[in-house]
Amino acid sequence: MKWITILALTGSTFLILTGTAIYSQQTVQDARIQPALIEARQVSNELAEKVRELLLKEMEKGGFINAIKICSEEAQRITHSIRVQKGHSLRRVSLRYRNPRNIPEEHERKRLEEFDRLNREKKLDHEYFEIAREGDKEYLSYMKPLIALPLCMTCHGPKENIPVEVKSILAEKYPGDRATGFLVGDVRGAISVKILLRASK
Ligand code: HEC
Repeated sequence: MKWITILALTGSTFLILTGTAIYSQQTVQDARIQPALIEARQVSNELAEKVRELLLKEMEKGGFINAIKICSEEAQRITHSIRVQKGHSLRRVSLRYRNPRNIPEEHERKRLEEFDRLNREKKLDHEYFEIAREGDKEYLSYMKPLIALPLCMTCHGPKENIPVEVKSILAEKYPGDRATGFLVGDVRGAISVKILLRASK
């Protein structure tokens, strides 16, 4: 798979107004990209907001078992239903994943590593995108970082702060769990969206 950054295409099709990050926050003057970008923003926000909203509700009720289901089964259900409805590729990915289904692909791994670096430097944006090429197809590859909030700590925070009941469910369901030890403000992972732009000639 060949990944082309927007910068590489500047001359011909795109106009970049900010030059700091390679693939963030550009005003892209390309008719093909705009609808895909709007769509990527919409589906990633929908997924992030629904999961956060449902988590908050369950956490307020105080039961961990249902809350755990929100970030696992419910998140997967929402992701799947958006994918089926819209036909895009949509996933949650993380360098320190809990479920091996969420292992990032190579390009996602590179971006996630970059998100960690930018976050440490306090330069992280809320979204990143680039044009990707796979065979004769072009895609908008869009990633939205997910930041660890206080709400996330019960299940993703330092092990010593995770309630015993949660720890035992996690140990049983996710024996290879890598998704603890995060602090508030860390990049917990990202939502990754891929939308077909058009087949090349
Ligand atoms: C009540 C427990 C719980 C809380 C609170 C929780 N999560 Fe999770 N999270 C999980 C579980 C369980 C999984 C495994 C999901 C699966 O099986 O796909 C997970 C998986 C994830 C993943 C997918 C990557 C991976 O590690 O497999 C991301 C991203 C994520 N959580 C982000 C968050 C964020 C951000 C918050 C706070 C807004 C949060 N979670 C709060 C339990 C929780």
